[in-house]
Amino acid sequence: MCPQNFDEVTTENMTENTSEYVSDEMAANETGDSIETSAGEDYSSEDVGAEDNILVCDGLVKIYKTDDVEVLALQGLELEIKRGELVAIIGKSGSGKSTLLNMIGGLEKPTAGRLYVDGHDLFAMSEKGLVEYRRKSVGFVWQNSGQNLFPYFTALQNVEAPLYFDRMSQKDRREKAMNLLKMIGIDHKANSYPAQMSGGEQQRVAIAVALAHDPQILLADEPTGAVDSKTSNMIQDLFRKINEEIGITIIIVTHDLSLANKVSRVIMISDGKISTEKIMKEKYRQQLDNMTTENLAEVESHEEYSILDKARRVQISQEALEMAGIDSNKVRVEVKDGKIILSK
Ligand SMILES: Nc1ncnc2c1ncn2[C@@H]1O[C@H](COP(=O)(O)OP(=O)(O)OP(=O)(O)O)[C@@H](O)[C@H]1O
Ligand SMILES: [Mg+2]
Repeated sequence: MCPQNFDEVTTENMTENTSEYVSDEMAANETGDSIETSAGEDYSSEDVGAEDNILVCDGLVKIYKTDDVEVLALQGLELEIKRGELVAIIGKSGSGKSTLLNMIGGLEKPTAGRLYVDGHDLFAMSEKGLVEYRRKSVGFVWQNSGQNLFPYFTALQNVEAPLYFDRMSQKDRREKAMNLLKMIGIDHKANSYPAQMSGGEQQRVAIAVALAHDPQILLADEPTGAVDSKTSNMIQDLFRKINEEIGITIIIVTHDLSLANKVSRVIMISDGKISTEKIMKEKYRQQLDNMTTENLAEVESHEEYSILDKARRVQISQEALEMAGIDSNKVRVEVKDGKIILSK
């Protein structure tokens, strides 16, 4: 049955992909507890680095066990992300990108290690605190827009949906949803159903949905994976606009190198660890707004850095080793003129 308006919706007619959201809500409500309670009360405060870090991953390990096989998806991953940063995460298939994103979103618990959000240990929180965190502090945009939107709601109703359990009048809810659609530039589709919109339009509505609760962190897993390059460009620009205008921290997992070229910091994951980071050159950043995609590809955009882990280990790419003629596991390390030189 198709509900005629959002207020007729019950939990029975919500689709599978929304069941977690609903059951989280129900779980919090069933206990008779108010979900208005600040998640902060469950936090255990610890000092975890610079104050402007919104996110600190401290030795994150994730092991998946299926039958007799163990998969090490994250291998002691260390990462710090500053408040208001726009970061892209890239890496080969199976390198652990989605695992990390799901962990930041509070959907996946680490096997070992800690994840601090705003200086608080996320997984030391009570289940209720975690539900609240998932519901309000993070917004998700998935690759497949079908995962992001209720098919039987209009764009406007979809954006209203996360606000449904809030103490908000219907008028305020509608106004907030409409303003978000306007900000994303998709308000002309407010009364369209997902099936009546293109993939790119659906992804834009999905971004508005993810922003409905004014989250601190916006997470996107391959948001441009299922759209053409023109639409992908438009969505990329939208992420930059949102980041600049509302200052929200955005973390995007992508295979799309043109997207990675447009963000100030690109993190490369390899075998469940951060291997290198690329930081955008200031000169390139200044030119970014006035350049076409073709122009951008010709300019050196980022400076690449290898990452030293806590034990002062660094990963050297196979390519670099081959170029230096290093073909065994022994390297000579010397410091010359303030530089560390590795040689055969
Ligand atoms: N629920 C699960 N059960 C078992 N193994 C899993 C599970 N989720 C992920 N893995 C494994 O963990 C590793 C990392 O997976 P992950 O999904 O994080 O990779 P990814 O970098 O997002 O890859 P892709 O680019 O293909 O999306 C892979 O080897 C994957 O097979
Ligand atoms: Mg993935």
